[in-house]
Amino acid sequence: MRAFKQVTSANMTSTKRNILVTSALPYANGSIHLGHLVEYIQTDIWVRYQKMQGHSCTYVCADDAHGTPIMLNAQKLGITPETLIANTDKEHRADFADFAVAFDNYYSTHSQENRELAEKIYLRNRDKGLIQKKTIEQFYDPEKEMFLPDRFIKGECPRCGTTDQYGDNCENCGATYAATDLKNPYSVVSGAKPELKPSEHYFFDLPAQQAMLENWTQDGRLQTGIANKLQEWFKTGLMAWDISRDAPYFGFEIPEAPGKFFYVWFDAPIGYLASFKNLCAKRDDLDFEAYWSSDSSHEVYHFIGKDIVNHHTLFWPAMLDGADMRKPTAVFVHGYLTVNGHKMSKSRGTFINARTYLKHLNPEYLRYYYAAKLGNGIEDLDLNLEDFAQRVNSDVVGKVVNIASRCAGFIKKKFAGKLAATLDDQDLYQAFINAADTIATHYEQREFSTAIREIMALADQANQYIDAKKPWVLAKEEGKDDEVQAACSMGINLFRILVLYLKPVLPKLAGDAEAFLNIEPMSWHDIDSPLLDHTINKFKPLMTRVEMDKVNAMIEDSKESLAETSKHKGQPPKAEQSASDTIAAQIEYDDFAKVDLRIARIVKAEHVEGADKLLQLTLDIGNETRNVFAGIKSAYAPEDLEGKLTVMVANLKPRKMRFGISEGMVLAAGPGGKDLFVLSPDEGAQPGMRVK
Ligand code: MSP
Ligand code: ZN
Repeated sequence: MRAFKQVTSANMTSTKRNILVTSALPYANGSIHLGHLVEYIQTDIWVRYQKMQGHSCTYVCADDAHGTPIMLNAQKLGITPETLIANTDKEHRADFADFAVAFDNYYSTHSQENRELAEKIYLRNRDKGLIQKKTIEQFYDPEKEMFLPDRFIKGECPRCGTTDQYGDNCENCGATYAATDLKNPYSVVSGAKPELKPSEHYFFDLPAQQAMLENWTQDGRLQTGIANKLQEWFKTGLMAWDISRDAPYFGFEIPEAPGKFFYVWFDAPIGYLASFKNLCAKRDDLDFEAYWSSDSSHEVYHFIGKDIVNHHTLFWPAMLDGADMRKPTAVFVHGYLTVNGHKMSKSRGTFINARTYLKHLNPEYLRYYYAAKLGNGIEDLDLNLEDFAQRVNSDVVGKVVNIASRCAGFIKKKFAGKLAATLDDQDLYQAFINAADTIATHYEQREFSTAIREIMALADQANQYIDAKKPWVLAKEEGKDDEVQAACSMGINLFRILVLYLKPVLPKLAGDAEAFLNIEPMSWHDIDSPLLDHTINKFKPLMTRVEMDKVNAMIEDSKESLAETSKHKGQPPKAEQSASDTIAAQIEYDDFAKVDLRIARIVKAEHVEGADKLLQLTLDIGNETRNVFAGIKSAYAPEDLEGKLTVMVANLKPRKMRFGISEGMVLAAGPGGKDLFVLSPDEGAQPGMRVK
């Protein structure tokens, strides 16, 4: 028997590493969706890979529980914020567990550890003179008696006059402005007219840390695209960062500053430390200081999405530095998820919650597909559902599982489950082992798609081997039993290595395969010893094919659950709807009669170059067509609209907009963002009919 050798390259030292890994903390007022899962699955694969290598790798996360939206959401539900975050905590944990995202600890930013750490980090920074007080003017809701973040204020766009626009930009004309520029502003919490009121805020002196940050971000630890983006920000110069909010606020009160609370983004990253500290108290092998003291040589990595880069590469390292703690080894940024080439959309049923997915499909399909598409860059990742089904079926089911199912039956029936005592093709086995190092490097560098490509190329070789041996033919011939056993044992051994390589991605399938192979859980270094003279168990199908009708049912289900879907980032909490729910002042019939509403058919809908919010509609109103720009892009794709009937205001004065002249308006309802519904009349209405 030849000894099999695993090659270990220089960059993968065999010394045991101490690694701490985090994913961003999901907000505690929304459900986990397939977009979030890009990050949690990416991180989990990397962590599982490190653990398989025998390193100490600890993966912590938590719910991000503080802030105004959570406070208002709880009020609206008539529960305490504590109850709200406890409910979400349960839901999030279950979602992650079912997708096999295996945190070593999952905690909450609303914890004693986090309070203490936030205070400590704040005080250390303050004592160094890095915190400044400044009085600023902000909108205040006199009815609700609270200051309002910009996204809780609406009013008329200062440029085009469109009503019900958010405090930062106009959905109609795309203008950006400050909340104080809005005309006739109102609070979306109470409907009251907000007042400008002065208040003292605490600011983190980011400019004082600029030189340190320029060094830290430009020394090769960040992805090139990110480092370059930061360079641009440095050129403009950093600004002091407002870290306080006034009561009432759900969060931690700032020490020696009654009525002032830490802004949610101040204590959120500290939540990484809190979760880890909470774990250290339970585990003898982990020492908090060893990871976080300024001279620590342990490794710390944060996986995040591209929307929260400034928090993790500027504010966070600056806070840590000011507190005399170590800074992260690296921050790994990923792109955003699109589904079938578009932003996730509720109207299209592609805004899919983790739980909805689980009702219809095997979580490992998604883990595999994400791995097959993920590199270490910041590009967006597209979940194309046809490709998803095709890829999983042809790779995992068709290539990998198939090897075992082709070989297992003969071994079980003819040889009582016993594998041969030698390997039939030692060179092929050695070729499989030789790939270990390359595949490991791809995992290490988060080039998962490349790792998967290598693994599937090996799977092709394994299938070619079996195709050439044809055990199903040999099995029918006299005196060929040894050959059948040799070929099938070889096939099973190749299958075992493929499963080992895929284990970070498909932990459940790997566990089932280990049970079938009758072996202990595999680690990376188990490659060297093949299974010889070993008895395996009965084969059970390890993964069934993705069925397109289940995928379609999931899409339908996501459309149906639209009304009940919880809010996601950027989306106003439901509490905000109260203002527009208030009926406007009464008008005379004559005023109403002035508005000429017409049935219109949307004959064409197109994207508008350079406009984030607008779609350009061509409307047929019987004897003429109208060109209308409508701020509904967040909720509709052009193809959703073409052919549809709707209602338009036909006698609105044409308005000149940045992109052309708009000749009227279409009617739509809803708070905005993805929750926006174009009105359509019942069947039978004809373009041009007057709406009375
Ligand atoms: N609570 C903050 C993070 C605080 S970290 C100290 C937050 N939460 S989040 O729930 O909005 O997002 C959590 C993570 O999921 C972020 O890294 C975010 O980039 C990522 N994603 C959220 N939606 C996503 C997609 N559609 N696609 C890919 N990643 C996405 O931000
Ligand atoms: Zn406008």
